[in-house]
Amino acid sequence: MQNINSYIDEHKKRFIDELIDLLKIPSISADSAYKQDVLNTADAVKESLLKAGCEQVEICETEGYPIIYGEKIIDKKLPTVLVYGHYDVQPPDPLDLWNSPPFEPVIQKTDLHPEGTIFARGACDDKGQMYMHVKALEYMTANNELPCNVKFMIEGEEEVGSANLGKFVAANREKLTNDVILISDTGMIAKDVPSITTGLRGLSYVEVEVTGPNRDLHSGLYGGAVANPINVLTKMIASLHDENNHITIPGFYDKVENLSDEERAEMAKAPFSLENYKKALDIDAVYGEEGYTTNERNSIRPTLDVNGIWGGYIGEGAKTVIASKAYAKISMRLVPNQDWEEITQLFKTHFERIAPDAVKVKVTPHHGGQGYVTPIDSIGYQAASKAYEQTFGKTPIPQRSGGSIPIVSLFEKELKSKTILMGFGLDSDAIHSPNEHFGVWNYLKGIETIPWFYKYFTELKSAE
Ligand code: BES
Ligand code: MN
Ligand code: MN
Repeated sequence: MQNINSYIDEHKKRFIDELIDLLKIPSISADSAYKQDVLNTADAVKESLLKAGCEQVEICETEGYPIIYGEKIIDKKLPTVLVYGHYDVQPPDPLDLWNSPPFEPVIQKTDLHPEGTIFARGACDDKGQMYMHVKALEYMTANNELPCNVKFMIEGEEEVGSANLGKFVAANREKLTNDVILISDTGMIAKDVPSITTGLRGLSYVEVEVTGPNRDLHSGLYGGAVANPINVLTKMIASLHDENNHITIPGFYDKVENLSDEERAEMAKAPFSLENYKKALDIDAVYGEEGYTTNERNSIRPTLDVNGIWGGYIGEGAKTVIASKAYAKISMRLVPNQDWEEITQLFKTHFERIAPDAVKVKVTPHHGGQGYVTPIDSIGYQAASKAYEQTFGKTPIPQRSGGSIPIVSLFEKELKSKTILMGFGLDSDAIHSPNEHFGVWNYLKGIETIPWFYKYFTELKSAE
């Protein structure tokens, strides 16, 4: 592994250019207008895996977007690493808030990224991080440094709930057999504070519709005498939190895993500056569940958030109207032991129950998934830890993330293996937001660190 740094030095321009080419394709899975682009991205990923040294790469059709499967098996007796990532991206809107077009990548220097950072939708989530694995594989195969077998499974529907991946995994257990699953689709604490993500939150995503009168009404003629669905919806939503910002849905917290004081004290050791946190978001104060710190609120505690709300007149000027309908999209982030389907049901029952007789309520579940925690004494975790020590000169900090990759718990259930989340993104990378970016330094550091994971994992596994 001695020449990984010189290999990166020699090829970094090409590594960056290749990623930029991938970022130019608008693979927005949520918007069917981009269907051909998503399919073209799948082809591009396939080609890149073949070039990097995979012997066999297939485009596996699903009812939705295809899953790219590739492998390089050097010896069946050796351990196998399964890499997962996604080639689809979030919609880039609102477009006017981007400083440069989301699918015309540019590299710019910032205070945090004096080496430059690539601005584009998907730069960090997840094309950039996924492509680190492709380039790490290229290095290992080109230099005879691949110590074990590797399989790649790159999907195109992560940002819309991975509806078809579960079926694919269940139907291909044999093909996907592995000793560890490796994912780079999370972040780390800071460039000089490496961390390994040990937990992800689950998710239940629902849409609600409140219907009042059968048509939009004159707000003078009818105002005060009939239920206004927007007034009612906002009141119902407001009642979902109490004055301590606890969620009021009966049974919501029943299965929430409570961390011991020791575990919470351990968590509190991770470097964190509340001042910087507030400054980065331009807020004067944080806000959340009573009795928990900011880091606890966004990782080990469940949440309920309105993601979008609409109804009535929002055009220019004023229109005096009581709308017939009001809508909201609501996400609940869940923590280990909460079951997303059960929580969805609890929400539905409660929301229907609190609706006044004057309106009708419809709750439509969208998608969801279970949370995940991984132990830090596994071989996979130790191998990752050693890899970071090698390339950062520091032991990484285990950290639970607030985000969700719902498929991870399913991997454990279907494939019986642990997932190691080696994320190289930063909170400031603005994933899902305008001006998403991924530092060139982070990208190259990922490519440098991943081969060490393979080496240590193979050594530790063989010594088992
Ligand atoms: N890569 C993210 C999840 C993530 C980011 C986890 C940073 C931890 C740290 C992933 O692409 C994502 O956005 N997931 C969605 C859920 C999905 C079902 C749409 C999310 O967390 O909102
Ligand atoms: Mn992602
Ligand atoms: Mn995402």
